[in-house]
Amino acid sequence: MKIGFFDSGIGGLTVLHQAMQILPEEEFLFYADSEHVPFGEKTKEQIIRYTDEAVQFMLSKGVKAVVIACNTATSVAISFLRSRYKIPILGIEPAVKPAVEECAGKRIMVMATPVTVREEKLKNLIARVDSEHRVDLLPMPKLVRFAEAGNFRSPEVTAYLCSQLAKYDLRNYSSLVLGCTHFNFFKDTMQEIFPSSVDFLDGSEGTARHLADVLKQNDLLEHHPQTVEYYRSGCKITAPEELERIRRLHQRLERMRFIRRGAASDDCSELKSM
Ligand code: DGL
Repeated sequence: MKIGFFDSGIGGLTVLHQAMQILPEEEFLFYADSEHVPFGEKTKEQIIRYTDEAVQFMLSKGVKAVVIACNTATSVAISFLRSRYKIPILGIEPAVKPAVEECAGKRIMVMATPVTVREEKLKNLIARVDSEHRVDLLPMPKLVRFAEAGNFRSPEVTAYLCSQLAKYDLRNYSSLVLGCTHFNFFKDTMQEIFPSSVDFLDGSEGTARHLADVLKQNDLLEHHPQTVEYYRSGCKITAPEELERIRRLHQRLERMRFIRRGAASDDCSELKSM
């Protein structure tokens, strides 16, 4: 039986990519709701409806577990989905807790979608773990649009990041939390902007490890040659050029996986001159 992965778009590949390293003998189904992306600019009701429809579709394909590989859909829909379906349903949330644990008196920047930034789930998490009020929240909706357009590295991406970051002194930060699965695609540009004292954190590896634990606990681990089926809003992707595009996205994610901190000079002179 397959493991279903859901995101509004290509961001969920970030989590699938990690899971494929950790679970080499499982069969995966990846569902991107490309018809409705971006979720970060939709209403709660819309996000719950689209996510529920996708989960129902994946259940009709016989999945044994579902990963909501989208911080936005997790923040809005995870409780509803868990109350409705019996199979394990995992979510992803911004890695605020590990960032706070290692901040050593410095600040933490959390980038996410407007919905994730507004929602109670993230606010409650921050209230629980950030007693010293060190977290700054930054909505970055345009990064989702750039990613969906395949625009990962360009003067427009750099200009957008720099304009959103201009009012922050990045030397005060110990971590950048990537609280949207689409944002991992931009780590090479982020590396040029953030100083080397800033660690990049995201929930994708933790979610993949958690998935492996949950499958084990529920006796759901299997041993097959690894396969992945890709769907876009209910349609199976079979065209060779589409599959080639997905292969290139995985290649990019493989490069991004090893970027773990900034590389700009510690006086942030790069940001000023960009
Ligand atoms: N990738 C999603 C997330 O992790 C949402 C992107 C969007 O559709 O706005 O939040």
